Amino acid sequence: MAIQRTFSIIKPDATKRNLTGKIIAKFEEAGLRVVASKRIQLTLAQAQEFYGVHKERPFFDELCEFMISEPIVVQVLEGEDAIAKNREVMGATNPADAADGTIRKEFALSIGENSVHGSDAPETAAVEIAYFFSGLEIVG
Ligand code: TYD
Repeated sequence: MAIQRTFSIIKPDATKRNLTGKIIAKFEEAGLRVVASKRIQLTLAQAQEFYGVHKERPFFDELCEFMISEPIVVQVLEGEDAIAKNREVMGATNPADAADGTIRKEFALSIGENSVHGSDAPETAAVEIAYFFSGLEIVG
């Protein structure tokens, strides 16, 4: 498998509880490298655009309100098979279903407040990375 890049968000429930470093350590232990990072606070319009694929779902409004409730840390992670590797270290969407040792098992509060986002495919990774970072901000 070739070296890939994926997009990651450390979500409001995690930044609020000062877990940024612990979560980054999990990425690094999994063989992923942080090649871009910044702390930002989303606007409601940005959150709605980012999660646009879910706009008909019943949890959409709550999800967007949650995503703007505190700062987030957006990152580009690089490594071999980075998209799948990141999804693996994140764990299942619902922390009740997440495997031992995963970020969501250890830190997530609920299916909504689940500490991290990670791209699910190369196409979404490319779009999400380009939405938040310019090429100059990514240093591999
Ligand atoms: P999804 O893309 O299905 O999961 P993942 O983040 O694991 O790729 O959903 C996006 C986010 O929407 C999820 O991280 C949390 C929120 N969500 C809910 O609040 N309730 C739900 O029932 C689902 C499926 C998702």
